[in-house]
Amino acid sequence: MKDTQQKHLWWQEGVIYQIYPRSYQDSNGDGVGDLQGIIQRLEHIKSLCIKAIWISPLFSSPMADFGYDISDYCDIHPLFGSMDDFDELLQAVHDRDMKLILDLVPNHTSDEHPWFKESRSSKDNPKRDWYIWKDANEDGSEPNNWLAMFGGSAWEWDEHTQQYYYHAFLKEQPDLNWRNPEVQEAMLDVMRFWLDKGVDGFRVDVMWHMIKDEQLRDNPVNPHYKAHQATYEKLIPAYSTDQPEVHDIVHKMRKVLDSYDERMMIGEIYLPIHKLMTYYGTDKSGAHLPFNFLLLSIDWDATEISSNINQYEGALPNGGWPNWVLGNHDQPRITSRVGKAQARVAAMLLLTLRGTPTIYYGDEIGMRDVPIPPDEVQDPQGLNMPGLNLSRDPQRTPMQWDRSENAGFSESKPWLRLPEDYRRVNVKTQLEDEFSIYALYKRLIKLRQEEPALHIGDYRPVVASSPLLAYLRYTSDQRFLILLNLSHKPCHFAPEHFNFEGTIEIDTLPEREGATVSKHVSLSGDEGMIIRLK
Ligand code: NOJ
Repeated sequence: MKDTQQKHLWWQEGVIYQIYPRSYQDSNGDGVGDLQGIIQRLEHIKSLCIKAIWISPLFSSPMADFGYDISDYCDIHPLFGSMDDFDELLQAVHDRDMKLILDLVPNHTSDEHPWFKESRSSKDNPKRDWYIWKDANEDGSEPNNWLAMFGGSAWEWDEHTQQYYYHAFLKEQPDLNWRNPEVQEAMLDVMRFWLDKGVDGFRVDVMWHMIKDEQLRDNPVNPHYKAHQATYEKLIPAYSTDQPEVHDIVHKMRKVLDSYDERMMIGEIYLPIHKLMTYYGTDKSGAHLPFNFLLLSIDWDATEISSNINQYEGALPNGGWPNWVLGNHDQPRITSRVGKAQARVAAMLLLTLRGTPTIYYGDEIGMRDVPIPPDEVQDPQGLNMPGLNLSRDPQRTPMQWDRSENAGFSESKPWLRLPEDYRRVNVKTQLEDEFSIYALYKRLIKLRQEEPALHIGDYRPVVASSPLLAYLRYTSDQRFLILLNLSHKPCHFAPEHFNFEGTIEIDTLPEREGATVSKHVSLSGDEGMIIRLK
């Protein structure tokens, strides 16, 4: 059966919007965003025609990794508000016919989580085996060569019980032992807690890390390691990540979700395409959407992008639903990567590809990475590996709402600084400008939502040469041709074996909209267009 004839669910048809809660809107003047702030700004999200909001962790946490180190999975950090605020937010989201996706961080807890406190209290504590404890080698060295993503060894010595514990990230983020059935049950209960409240799904943090090699074998050396890379890259994480047994765990999570109505799970997975696909699970019994980060890692080049889209499309399992991402709280912002003009083309790409798009907050107004002076760096990844330019603070700065002091984000000095140009680059200014990137995002999402060809239609590549990227999106009764010039120079589309005629529906140069084009078309530098074909 064609995809367009099947029933599609909200997470297939709609657009997802990611909020980094520290930086969206501060309602109580402490310089940090919070839940009431998000509630105040829901109309902005709704007016963009967003279907679902994913919020990065909101839970109790000592904030060693800004909330990705959780000390209570079932409570809200007071910095963000209370459980009442959360309930109010969930209701307000649902009242607007939107969905709420929470961040689930099952791979590791905070070292201040009661589970870990118990586990480290003695070798015979019932929760000892909830984490990964190991004796030192005879010479006192670490059990194996595994490295932490945030620098240094992945093993931390515990003086009190004379063993090492494993942490894939900070030492304040000990990894849970997912081979232990009690751990599995405890985390599935966490899921049930939020699902019972009515939460619509989870974005599962570092899904591919959850199970490690049972024998804890050494990781092989990476022969391609370069000095400018994080020390973690020195090894190939062959034994510390992406183990076959992880799929049983993902399947168990899926079963919990399936026992509720229309809930979903996105997996955060940074792996090559063929491995990524395995996270859909046999017969789609795994993650609904294993995050597709291709556009974050490949060169901004038409040939490269086109071949990656085709590989991805071609590798999808039967019925596996695609998805695309241009940015998140761990990656440089798209406008900084490709420039202001290409960011508009990128938006058109994201919102016309087949599959669920996820938009990172602020990208809709073309926010850039904000330079953070060394003495203001807060991200542990940046602090632990100084000089490598790995801090993620630049992409986590406060949302730029208006021209006022602190950009309408807060009444006080924000936790991270704003860019010099926020008085020009902000929501309010762009609302008044019909040619702004915000206006473009809004129209792209609206068209996508109105046209089945764009939200559930098929995809077919159209032969074109670099710098042009061309493809069709279509259903049985509507076809759109998308032409994207990925360079600053003009180019021409004159296909030999493809006759077309249509009207420009949306253009990154709006002056051209409504024009009829046929057989061939010239594009200016940085121009992208969606042509409604006859
Ligand atoms: C992935 C998250 O996206 C990142 O922000 C975090 O630091 C690590 N997981 C550790 O939880």
